[in-house]
Amino acid sequence: MRGGLTRRVLLRGAGAGGVLAAAGGLWRAWDQGVFDVGRGPAYEPWHRWQSAADAGPLGLVRAAVLAASPHNSQPWLFRVTESRIDLFADPARNIGAVDPYRREMYIGLGCALENLLLAADARGFAWRLALMPDRANAAHAARIDFAPGSRATSELYDAIPRRHTNRGPYDQARAVSRELLDDLARLAGADARVRWFTADAERRRLGDLIVRATEASVADDDQSRASADWFRSRWADVQRHRDGITIDANVTEPLLRAAAKMLPPLSRERSDRFWLTATRDTFVATATGFGLLAVRDARDNAERLRGGRAWQRLHLHATARGLALHPLNQPTERADREQSLGIEPTFGRVLAELLGDPRWETLMTFRIGYPTRAAALSPRRAAEAVLI
Ligand SMILES: Cc1cc2nc3c(=O)[nH]c(=O)nc-3n(C[C@H](O)[C@H](O)[C@H](O)COP(=O)(O)O)c2cc1C
Repeated sequence: MRGGLTRRVLLRGAGAGGVLAAAGGLWRAWDQGVFDVGRGPAYEPWHRWQSAADAGPLGLVRAAVLAASPHNSQPWLFRVTESRIDLFADPARNIGAVDPYRREMYIGLGCALENLLLAADARGFAWRLALMPDRANAAHAARIDFAPGSRATSELYDAIPRRHTNRGPYDQARAVSRELLDDLARLAGADARVRWFTADAERRRLGDLIVRATEASVADDDQSRASADWFRSRWADVQRHRDGITIDANVTEPLLRAAAKMLPPLSRERSDRFWLTATRDTFVATATGFGLLAVRDARDNAERLRGGRAWQRLHLHATARGLALHPLNQPTERADREQSLGIEPTFGRVLAELLGDPRWETLMTFRIGYPTRAAALSPRRAAEAVLI
């Protein structure tokens, strides 16, 4: 009798504990935004970028802020008048030792510029562009003067809100046609060049280089810390900072993503290991092909801006064709890092060999393929927050 009573009390206690644990789990899931992927203030810029109220140049900034940028650092500032937009780098929004010469920062500014100009075409502005217009101010990336023009909407413009960096597995059974690869290479224009690596042996060579560069980045304490500074694990931080790399953008498998959001944040070391494993077993292993995007002088800011414009165009075109692109820039980041530390230029040398033309220099390395899962939106600061 007493045993039965005790058991009943225990069972009731266990039941209550279970309910509490479930409630705690639910609360944690809610608090970490498990049910809110792509929602909340940090994602609003994606949902209202074409608001009819923004017929003037501010509306163009709404398109610009949806562009790609290194670590989603959004290193841009805009000065807007009725007939002109000046684009500036925000030097404080750098990714430190990962980008010691700010190469990627200017590529990101070029991406924003491309979105802005596509929106200008689509919304009936004629424009005149000057890159790096002020010799005395390296932060002044571009000046765009506007006049009334005719509307020229485009597939690239329409793809702006659907373009996302896809870090999931790509479909290994589905090759990208030569015709599509040629189209993409042509889109880079005269100022940038794309070299494709799709045959087995050359794909393996670039894939191995990317994995080795990731190992070197993880082993480099300064680079590892600089990357971690832009990682946002807490949903509250995602919504407050509205920048950086999120779990949603990093993990495409829904259950794994939910689990990663609910568990305590990974230590920097474990996070680095996760990234290295994902690079080797998912990014590189499932890539249908790799590409190198090159410009004539990767140290020149105007060239970097042109390269960034080309990258954004490529990614928008790929999006319109149902393809995924994913920068894997560890080799170029390591090449810059080697140079800044004055150590043996291992990665710089291999990149030059792979490109095989001394008149060009690699700006970015990336993978291409058909995605097997959708990529999540990444957070953005509002246009109003990046005006000066
Ligand atoms: C210059 C540049 C370098 C980048 N390098 C990497 C990279 O090495 N690995 C990666 O996963 N994403 C990389 N990205 C993608 C950014 O992280 C991504 O654009 C940013 O997080 C915003 O997300 P979205 O492209 O989905 O809008 C890079 C983007 C740019 C513009």
